[in-house]
Amino acid sequence: MFFERHEGGERAVLVHLDGQDPEAREDPQEFQELAISAGAETVAFISVPRHRPTAKYLIGSGKVEELRDLVKAEHIDLVIFNHTLTPSQERNLERAFECRVLDRTGLILDIFAQRARTHEGKLQVELAQLDHLSTRLVRGWTHLERQGGGIGLRGPGETQLETDRRLLRVRMGQLKSRLAKVRSQRQQARRGRQRADIPSVSLVGYTNAGKSTLFNALTNSDVYAADQLFATLDPTLRRLQLDDLGPIVLADTVGFIRHLPHKLVEAFRSTLEESSNSDLLIHIIDAHEPERKEQIEQVMAVLQEIGAEGLPLLEVYNKIDLLEGVEPQIQRDGDGKPQRVWVSARDGRGLDLLRQAVAELLGDDLFVGTLRLPQALGRLRAQFFALGAVQSEAHDEEGGSLLALRVPRVELNRLVSREGWEPLDFLAQHTLQ
Ligand code: GTP
Repeated sequence: MFFERHEGGERAVLVHLDGQDPEAREDPQEFQELAISAGAETVAFISVPRHRPTAKYLIGSGKVEELRDLVKAEHIDLVIFNHTLTPSQERNLERAFECRVLDRTGLILDIFAQRARTHEGKLQVELAQLDHLSTRLVRGWTHLERQGGGIGLRGPGETQLETDRRLLRVRMGQLKSRLAKVRSQRQQARRGRQRADIPSVSLVGYTNAGKSTLFNALTNSDVYAADQLFATLDPTLRRLQLDDLGPIVLADTVGFIRHLPHKLVEAFRSTLEESSNSDLLIHIIDAHEPERKEQIEQVMAVLQEIGAEGLPLLEVYNKIDLLEGVEPQIQRDGDGKPQRVWVSARDGRGLDLLRQAVAELLGDDLFVGTLRLPQALGRLRAQFFALGAVQSEAHDEEGGSLLALRVPRVELNRLVSREGWEPLDFLAQHTLQ
């Protein structure tokens, strides 16, 4: 392997560029989390106002000097930029600091490299790393080891460089053909599922929104969930049984992130393909995250990029256990279709509603009508409300409820049977024409 991943615990300085342009802005908090996820020990966090980015270093030369002193004084191993650096900027900075410099893409790649679990994921990460490296493989790539030399370096340096380039090309070619094979196997498996008519549902969401936790809660499996970014790298598929609807296939996918470098979207296209071929997308949102609006936009942008923007989508607002006074519920759109479900994947609240919303969206056999419920059936009335099935309510003289309902028939039947009624008898007696 050409690319040795560093071990955790490297002493790092984080450099964040604070621009005016909200489009180009990166979140400093998220940057720190990324660095932690990569295993870096943050010694200093430097925020640099980005008035005039320079071509040579991206930051001003005064800042470069300041950072060089800091690197020396604090024995820093690594300077990480929360931004994309051109290969020459990265090189110039490494020369100035005399230590390794990593940009945002390199950082995310490093995390991906640590998290990949399946064969396909590992191949994809290695390919993306080599691709990233190939643009940086120019004379002087290994200049740090050769410092202090001078005359005579050029020849061997060039030769080594040529060898590196050739090896890189060979390895990338091998990886590509292996990946092609793995992909075609995966596509075959997918076609098999489609033939069997099993609906597939993909979980998508910003990194750390709780996809793996929700996946585990829904499937009782033990997918790795950690308070680290990109704990999930490969799509993990599980078959699960939804009451009344039958089996579905649920896929957990890679976490999305703002300004996901384009190369990475490419590299993970096949991982995300699972989403673009789904019958339904579940978009998990961290309801407790102040930046959730931007995160939603980022996820939607990636979905558009992979051609999945037109698919039916259910929003799941997760982590309601961290919010005061928010109860599990289904919110519906103007047509009465489930649009948003509020849940806690951690304590399991609202998961029954989520299963029901999914069943409803995948199989759309609905009861739409008005029921008259006597006061004695108050519990049933409350259950209809909890399901978000009530469109309007009026009352009769005896204190009973007239409920305008829109509810999947299977759900209605289940609730009514639980009250000891035969569904058909119940509807005959309670439905208003
Ligand atoms: P990536 O793999 O980075 O995409 O993350 P993910 O979306 O799969 O998130 P994951 O399930 O790994 O959860 C991230 C963190 O949020 C973990 O620390 C979870 O324990 C936590 N978490 C997930 N769901 C909930 C929840 O409902 N409530 C609370 N309080 N924490 C949660």
